[in-house]
Amino acid sequence: MEKPLRLQKFLAHAGVASRRKCEEIISSGRVQVDGKTITAMGTQITPGKERITVDGKVIGAKEKLVYILLNKPKGYVTTVSDPQGRPIVTSLLQNIKERVFPVGRLDLDTEGALLLTNDGELTQSILHPSNEVFKTYEAEVKGTPKASALRSLETGIMVENKKTAPAKVRFKRKKRQNSIIEITIHEGRKRQVKKMFQAIGHPVISLKRLAYGKLGLGNLAVGKYRFLKKNDINLIFSNKILYKQKNS
Ligand code: URA
Repeated sequence: MEKPLRLQKFLAHAGVASRRKCEEIISSGRVQVDGKTITAMGTQITPGKERITVDGKVIGAKEKLVYILLNKPKGYVTTVSDPQGRPIVTSLLQNIKERVFPVGRLDLDTEGALLLTNDGELTQSILHPSNEVFKTYEAEVKGTPKASALRSLETGIMVENKKTAPAKVRFKRKKRQNSIIEITIHEGRKRQVKKMFQAIGHPVISLKRLAYGKLGLGNLAVGKYRFLKKNDINLIFSNKILYKQKNS
């Protein structure tokens, strides 16, 4: 018999979601232990002893770990269920029996690279701020920002009373009255890119995530996905090293 452990830890190990997300799942009443809904966080369970379900699905022995890169279309929410009934990103996946969940979020109106996995540990390491995983976005912004404004995005600007961490910014081209700008950040504050451009007076018109680290979309069409291999996963963390070398 295995040792007892906390319910949220069991769920994270089983690949349901990150530990923090599992806590949310528990407190929202989606978890049952032997048929009883559990919302208390300290609940101890013994793997293999109780029947544990999330949304009615039995969570058992470790699933095969799968890693998927989706080119999320606009209009889809990055959750696995939506009380408002909007389209959810997992509905774009076909014939995947593992229960995968998105790594982080993209706004409803943002498209682009979205990782989905049942590997809770990987999710934690991508999302944990100390790992500084870089995400690159292409933003169409209103007007043409001055070089000095773009520099201020690079060095850090005040967004909601907190200075943003250093970013990389590249002016790509003009598009009629707007500009296409590439920005790479490692923080994951809510609507961060939009808030950063808003702060320099050039609101985002359209936003697309191009890459996690050096793992890019390539020619993946909008709404399509591909399975990732170990080498692909390593690319997620490699931009950090490049960035550190560049600035050291
Ligand atoms: N920053 C934003 O503003 N929106 C996203 O969807 C992702 C990053």
